[in-house]
Amino acid sequence: MEIFEKIERLKKERNAVILAHNYELPEVQDCADFVGDSLELSLKAAQTDADMIVFCGVHFMAETAKILSPQKTVLLPAKDAGCPMANMIDARQLRLLKAEHPRAKVVCYVNTTAEVKAECDLCCTSANAVKMVGEVLRDAEEIIFVPDQYLAAFVAEKTGRELIVWNGYCPVHAAVLSGEIKNARTLHPTAAVVVHPECRPEVTALADATLSTGGMSRYARETKAKEIIVGTETGIIHKLKKENPEKDFFAVSESFICADMKKTTLQKVLFSLENIVNEIIIPEEISLRARAGIQRMLDAGR
Ligand code: 13P
Ligand code: SF4
Repeated sequence: MEIFEKIERLKKERNAVILAHNYELPEVQDCADFVGDSLELSLKAAQTDADMIVFCGVHFMAETAKILSPQKTVLLPAKDAGCPMANMIDARQLRLLKAEHPRAKVVCYVNTTAEVKAECDLCCTSANAVKMVGEVLRDAEEIIFVPDQYLAAFVAEKTGRELIVWNGYCPVHAAVLSGEIKNARTLHPTAAVVVHPECRPEVTALADATLSTGGMSRYARETKAKEIIVGTETGIIHKLKKENPEKDFFAVSESFICADMKKTTLQKVLFSLENIVNEIIIPEEISLRARAGIQRMLDAGR
């Protein structure tokens, strides 16, 4: 039996739903029930009535799903798929930063561990960070924003707020330099350029739009441009092409790859579903505290 069929059969038997991030391998995206960005995946995890969530993504994403649906079994087929940026700050470091700024409200990017989220007032994703800082926390005297310094710079520019930042970064997005955007524009002069807000400010400054991966997907559908230069992890191009077969997409660089997002394979999805392994477990006290900031974000809407 084909691996797709085996996964489909087991999914029904287990009443499971497969969620995949936009950066996952093409065949993994194709076997998922839903493919999206961090915010969209959190919403799906909160709303699903399945008994089991198989999360094709990295550890913090599966943790977020578990925090939002604690009664469900959440499996991470690639148990070693982490996010290097999420590991750039731990709860102790955040507590020390909070002690230095006792009046500050704390915003945690969703790319953080559950322990770090448990220390924050509000969570955000790349899709809603500007809204969380600019609207939800508009009355805050001071705001700590962790861990991504480049997303923080983007939010500070859009909201006019000065933020207390951490020096974390995504090694995949931070590796992109402005010269690569200029080269891509020279090669495709009529193309629109979209980049992710985890990119450096000198890179976002050259783009037509700076968007979450879900935002890129909407942009690609709505833009009149027939060619689009994509400034994020190349896995998203599979989805963009599928949704817009009449348009052409070009990666800023073919080496724009997150190795952790490529750790999930169909074999691992099948294995985790068959054997119910690689389950996400979070201590209840951490989960409850982490949930508060995520829930505040979801309640605030897009
Ligand atoms: P999105 O929420 O925009 O999909 O981003 C997730 C991520 O990890 C970007 O590197
Ligand atoms: Fe983390 Fe960057 Fe990979 Fe996103 S692309 S999961 S931020 S390392």
